[in-house]
Amino acid sequence: MATIQSIGVIGAGQMGCGIAHVCAAAGYKVHLYDLSRDRIEAGLATINGNLARQVSNGKLSDDERKAALSRISGSADLNDLAPVDLAIEAATEEEAVKRKIYAQLCPILKPEALLATNTSSLSITRLASATDRPERFMGIHFMNPVPAMKLVELVRGIATDETTFTTAREFVSTLDKTVTVAEDFPAFIVNRILLPMINEAIYTLYEGVGSVDAIDTAMKLGANHPMGPLQLADFIGLDTCLSIMQVLHDGLADSKYRPCPLLVKYVEAGWLGRKTGRGFYDYRGETPVPTR
Ligand SMILES: NC(=O)c1ccc[n+]([C@@H]2O[C@H](COP(=O)([O-])OP(=O)(O)OC[C@H]3O[C@@H](n4cnc5c(N)ncnc54)[C@H](O)[C@@H]3O)[C@@H](O)[C@H]2O)c1
Repeated sequence: MATIQSIGVIGAGQMGCGIAHVCAAAGYKVHLYDLSRDRIEAGLATINGNLARQVSNGKLSDDERKAALSRISGSADLNDLAPVDLAIEAATEEEAVKRKIYAQLCPILKPEALLATNTSSLSITRLASATDRPERFMGIHFMNPVPAMKLVELVRGIATDETTFTTAREFVSTLDKTVTVAEDFPAFIVNRILLPMINEAIYTLYEGVGSVDAIDTAMKLGANHPMGPLQLADFIGLDTCLSIMQVLHDGLADSKYRPCPLLVKYVEAGWLGRKTGRGFYDYRGETPVPTR
């Protein structure tokens, strides 16, 4: 098994920040990379805020918060990832974006470093083929929000070797998370089941069966879901939801996975959910207000 002491995280969005947060809290040195200094600053501020919330909830002491923060560095220079033992890519859910990152990153990483993707849906085998290390590449799929969610899906590509898999499993256990192993098929387990449900909720809205409020209330109180499906879609990010539905539709060639045109329209409007301030709800005021 390879020894993991330092982690590189590519993408300082909601998932990258969450991954950096839990790795630093577990004692790893973390380097966060994104395209601009502004995004890094925003990411570090988010991590600081989330760590502070854990202190007020009694989950972390203030000394632990300070120690975790001191283990995280960040920059918009990919070369800073050269020393890491494991790089976890958590950039935008677009295959072209991820391929471009691997082309730039692989020559920088140590030959023995492991490379993982946090993709929600893309083929691990195909992404691995865009790297110089398919045997040391796999899917380590965290759930959102990372500090709160217990599950991590592990997905091997066709070439992933056993040492990589065992090292990843051991690494995840040090983060106090539970592993589930999924085969490399579109959207793996969680999103294969979850996203068609969310897409169907959007069709329910599109066809006028219910309002945003009616649909979310129905599923919270009628199916005992902690969040309504439209609230959850906003939380995931509507661009990410659309990408996952497209991967399911293309990869499984079944019309039951066709993305709802209303989801497409929201993404075209740039109403991507919480992260942009508007989606099925408008988050710009005190309390979220349904947009339909
Ligand atoms: N949102 C979720 O609920 C969720 C859950 C599990 C996994 N994921 C996966 O995690 C990944 C990231 O999702 P997210 O929700 O954090 O998205 P996000 O939109 O919040 O963040 C994506 C980040 O990637 C950065 N980025 C884009 N191109 C880049 C590049 N070339 N180099 C470095 N950074 C780049 C963006 O600047 C942005 O900060 C996706 O693959 C997504 O499918 C998302």
